Amino acid sequence: MTRRLPEPVHEALTRTFDARLNPDDRPLSAAELQAALRDADALLTTVTDKVTADVLSVEPRRAGLVANFGVGFNNIDIEAAKARGVSVSNTPDVLTDATADLAMTLLLMTARRAGEGERHLRGGQWTGWRPTHMLGTHVTGKTLGLIGMGRIARAVAQRAHHGFGMKVIFHDPFPPSPDIARSLGAEPRGTLEDVLREADFVSLHCPATPETRHLMNQERFGLMRSDAFLINTARGDVVDEAALVQALERKTIAGAGLDVFEKEPQVTQALVAMDNVVLLPHLGSATRETRVAMGMRAFENLQRFFSGQPLLDRVV
Ligand code: DGY
Repeated sequence: MTRRLPEPVHEALTRTFDARLNPDDRPLSAAELQAALRDADALLTTVTDKVTADVLSVEPRRAGLVANFGVGFNNIDIEAAKARGVSVSNTPDVLTDATADLAMTLLLMTARRAGEGERHLRGGQWTGWRPTHMLGTHVTGKTLGLIGMGRIARAVAQRAHHGFGMKVIFHDPFPPSPDIARSLGAEPRGTLEDVLREADFVSLHCPATPETRHLMNQERFGLMRSDAFLINTARGDVVDEAALVQALERKTIAGAGLDVFEKEPQVTQALVAMDNVVLLPHLGSATRETRVAMGMRAFENLQRFFSGQPLLDRVV
């Protein structure tokens, strides 16, 4: 167990297995991950563990499973794991609602200037109500563009369309069936660029892969409307952070709500200085209920691995 886990998960793991903890709860170094791969039969990792090809090359290796605590697994070199016969599992489904809620939180916060307003009040600058004070952007009836239409994007569409009366458009190379899209009030668009041109809010929901790295680059920011906002609860790598800063500085787009960053936990300082950007510390799945469910899902994968059953959530 590479990081401290919620108590019920910790309890289940230590009751069932000869579990080794990381008492400091800090990200393990490559050498520490290699030591874990050498000594343990299975690892429970998180997004902060960089399980690279080099880390996986350790010899002799004892571990046969890397059970990742998270739906995303871009922290693990999947090809290298596959080549070396190391299984990898993740924790889908259980964090869909929490992450969709956080995407809506960011959308509403950016539109209604909630972070800026709170800083204003706490900073003692509020002089009282007035008709022109801190006007934001209306959300109801606006167009939300989803990049990727997997589980989390669908849960966002459900909230945005049925809860906030938004028009929802999306692009995904593997789209849901027309019936599913219709039930979410979501209309497909032929290209990513079509979505960018039309949306008032663009929310990213694609996995981080070599193909999606810097998907949002200078050219694509240039296609967005100047009054549109970018929301990212997916992975930092999907956005070229330098291009985003430039787009915000040049007012190519109106603002951004970000939960993930290219070099976590470092955040580009220019973003920190911008009032029209809402920044959260990778909280997408951070509810007590969800983090326990994620841990129990990883636990289930570990149990299946140790009892020789097929993994519930096999990545490779
Ligand atoms: C996920 O599940 O992918 C979250 O971002 C935490 O890693």
